Amino acid sequence: MRKKGTGFGLFLLAFLLLTSCTGEENASEDSVLYEDEVVDSEDIVVGYSQVGSESDWRTANTESFEQTFTEANGYFLLFEDAQQKQENQLKAIRNFILQEVDYIILDPIVETGWDAVLQEAKDAGIPVILVDRTVKVEDEDLYTCWVGSDFTREGEQAGEWLKNYLEQQGRSEEEIRIVTLQGTLDSSSQIGRTQGFQKVLHTQDNWLMLESQSGDFTQAKGREVMEYFLNTYEDIDVVIGENDNMTFGAIDAIKAAGKTCGPNGDIIILSFDAVRAALVSMKNGDINADFECNPLLGPRVAEIIEQLEHGETVDKIQYVEETYFDSSMDLKESIKERAY
Ligand code: AHR
Repeated sequence: MRKKGTGFGLFLLAFLLLTSCTGEENASEDSVLYEDEVVDSEDIVVGYSQVGSESDWRTANTESFEQTFTEANGYFLLFEDAQQKQENQLKAIRNFILQEVDYIILDPIVETGWDAVLQEAKDAGIPVILVDRTVKVEDEDLYTCWVGSDFTREGEQAGEWLKNYLEQQGRSEEEIRIVTLQGTLDSSSQIGRTQGFQKVLHTQDNWLMLESQSGDFTQAKGREVMEYFLNTYEDIDVVIGENDNMTFGAIDAIKAAGKTCGPNGDIIILSFDAVRAALVSMKNGDINADFECNPLLGPRVAEIIEQLEHGETVDKIQYVEETYFDSSMDLKESIKERAY
């Protein structure tokens, strides 16, 4: 439940001091001044600590929050981009606490190292909603709830898809040489996708994981790691890109090396996220299958906040619905309708 009357207290005080110094007597006491912006004191103030801007998925996720948490919808959003550094997220959360925000939304870069700062938020009475990635903490009561994707299921689905595809191609007995471009190590999306795929890998004696290396979810690093794989291993049958941007980088590296990929090429490509650009790439014949990760979490979090505002309890773990796409499907409509 929101701490009515305490949120933004410091800023109200600052505002009153400011107006008494400047003589702005017409300003309404129902407004507070924050970073040169006048904010309605009835607005729900939300601090969002975002991972960074490393991928198309991430851009869509940021836009979803910016479009949902607007003043027209009764919110004031403080947005902090951590540039893929946990230390920046810790600073941002501590600032949100100092600013007495009503809710903190955290997309944690990695799973560990959050106990102390989440305890500080709890002591300050500020509910923390986790989105997308999650945390490993001693006390689960340090956060209110989590909403995001089932990353392990995504990885497992990719493994099952590959198994069926190889069967259809009459390659179930052949040695299958695989490399993985992993996401940011220790992030939930990396851990889940890697472990999910491994569940199927361990059932297939003829699949060989040559190497897994992190490309930090970025296109540039994805390309760099793929160049290294191509220089190191002569035969690669399958590339798993743990997000679309790393996959785009890998496709560039494969083409630059004079090889081909996709359903009619030398290398099978599996990817995660299923952003519009990836579906276009699949339609163009470069990607075999892509497992969706939905970034549009803003409206779902707003619903959660509404429930909390009404004193309702919310489910601790909330998965979003997801699907997958492969090159055998008619992708035209999906590309047209894709919101990200
Ligand atoms: O945690 C979600 C992952 O983070 C997305 O798959 C990826 O694109 C992003 O960078």
